[in-house]
Amino acid sequence: MRINKYIAQSGMASRRKADELIINGNVKINGAVMKEPGYDVQEGDQVTVNGRLVGAAQRLEYVLINKPIGMVTTASDDLNRPTVMDVVKDIDARLFPVGRLDYNTTGALLMTNDGEMAFRLTHPKHEIYKTYRAVVSGILSNERAAKLRKGVDIGGFITSEAKVKIIKGNRSSTVVEISIKEGKNRQVRKMFAAVGNPVQELERVAIGEIRLGHLKPGYYRKLTREEILYLKNC
Ligand code: URA
Repeated sequence: MRINKYIAQSGMASRRKADELIINGNVKINGAVMKEPGYDVQEGDQVTVNGRLVGAAQRLEYVLINKPIGMVTTASDDLNRPTVMDVVKDIDARLFPVGRLDYNTTGALLMTNDGEMAFRLTHPKHEIYKTYRAVVSGILSNERAAKLRKGVDIGGFITSEAKVKIIKGNRSSTVVEISIKEGKNRQVRKMFAAVGNPVQELERVAIGEIRLGHLKPGYYRKLTREEILYLKNC
């Protein structure tokens, strides 16, 4: 098995992070630094990351959290703000977030120690719709909704097809459900800004078929077996 996959499967890091650790010389095979991400781990090899033995695979955990507003999607924060790790602190495994949500975005975020799955789901080629409920300023006309569906320029990048459903609205704001496959930085906010309806509130309500439902902000639930299988197959 390739060394990056081997490290990811142990639950120690995502595959991307494992590549970084290898290139930076943090990984040793049988006591010698190994900087070749293509190295194939042989039976009997002793692999260490920063001196820690990469052992047998940990129990894999898959949870969905509802990220509250004012929480960062990282393992630690220089500014000491709350992080998504705080939500899962009673789980006895080192989980990491699959992708990101902005500080001011709430809603569905997957967390796992399955580095392989995290790698696949966050790869730019991976196509899974993520659905957001946005409250935007002003009236979102049908014409603007059509533009969002077709693709808009968000600063040198034209977004691909989106699903857009206007839920309700008045003169001051509109509630919209939007589903996109890409995950550029602040993409939904930039898309609505591009058509002249800046986002006031943003919540991710689903990742593919995995729905947030009634999960309260700051809480988590374990994925069902069906949900895990769904993610493995999509
Ligand atoms: N798009 C955004 O603008 N923000 C998020 O947090 C997620 C998607």
